[in-house]
Amino acid sequence: MSAATLESFLAELDRLRADSEAAVAAARDAAAVEAARVEFAGAKSGRLKAIQKALGGLAAADKPAGGRHFNEAKAAVTELLAAAQARLAVAAAAGPPIDVTLPGSAVPLGHLHPITQTIRRVQEIMGRLGFESVDGPEVEDQWHNFEALAIPAEHPARDPLDNFYLAVARGADPLLLRSQTSTVQIRVMEARRPPLRIVSLGRVYRPDTADATHYPMFHQVEGLLVEPGTTMAHLKSVLRLFASSFLGGDVHVRFRPSFFPFTEPSVEVDMEWGGRWVEMGGAGMVDPAVLAAVGYDPAEVSGFAFGLGVERIAARRYGVADIRDFYRNDVRFLRQF
Ligand code: PHE
Repeated sequence: MSAATLESFLAELDRLRADSEAAVAAARDAAAVEAARVEFAGAKSGRLKAIQKALGGLAAADKPAGGRHFNEAKAAVTELLAAAQARLAVAAAAGPPIDVTLPGSAVPLGHLHPITQTIRRVQEIMGRLGFESVDGPEVEDQWHNFEALAIPAEHPARDPLDNFYLAVARGADPLLLRSQTSTVQIRVMEARRPPLRIVSLGRVYRPDTADATHYPMFHQVEGLLVEPGTTMAHLKSVLRLFASSFLGGDVHVRFRPSFFPFTEPSVEVDMEWGGRWVEMGGAGMVDPAVLAAVGYDPAEVSGFAFGLGVERIAARRYGVADIRDFYRNDVRFLRQF
């Protein structure tokens, strides 16, 4: 390029600046920015280089002004290219652009296991009837699982074949996985004075062969009410209120005479809903010997207790035919709840 006059030299600089701005503005990727860099600022044959050479052809008096304008233009182009490179680097780090018009990808949300849902529901219903929800340990001692519940040493319920005894002992007695939640009755009565209204829901363990209605681990809901003047009528009312709240509708509760060492009288609890009777668990009036064992005066207070199978009531509620389905962890089954 031969720019003889300052005027044409400056015009050339202006063109370069306008062209470089347009090229950078149009550059969509790193290759385009690099092409612009080579075109305008390339060390060998860039347009800046060519104009710099033309600087030498100016009249001596025009050289200072020409040089100043050249330096300004060079700095501007350099900065423009650097800014474009920086912008691309940030965009690359952020990943591909997000198309906000595309439908979102759904995050699969799980839900609570049907047994956990059932436990929460029972706690909620019983809570409305004034029963506080409490917890007890799954590893128990013989006192709480048997002795205090009037189940003496020779009782068949203590047979090693009917319990999961552990190789760990407290004192002389081996500990065991609790076989019933009635243990919590004792723990609560030992720690508190009447009046009492509690429910306790949790796991219990028995070495049963798994079938449609049995599993070596299952859940019970234990209820206990101790107040002066408590009768079997209160027990039946509470169970009926619970059952109709839980199953929704008209539920009948039937008691059949039975025996438990820690209740007197004792009953089996059946519930009828939708034309079918199902045995749900056991219940009765807390045996005066049990009240005495925890330091209550049986002449002053009486109480009722019940223990229902959580799997049983859940199966009845949801129409599940085989309780083993609750533990197979097949999501096709679990998704239905
Ligand atoms: N614990 C008894 C069982 O597991 C059920 C029960 C609880 C019976 C409370 C009476 C009172 O079979």
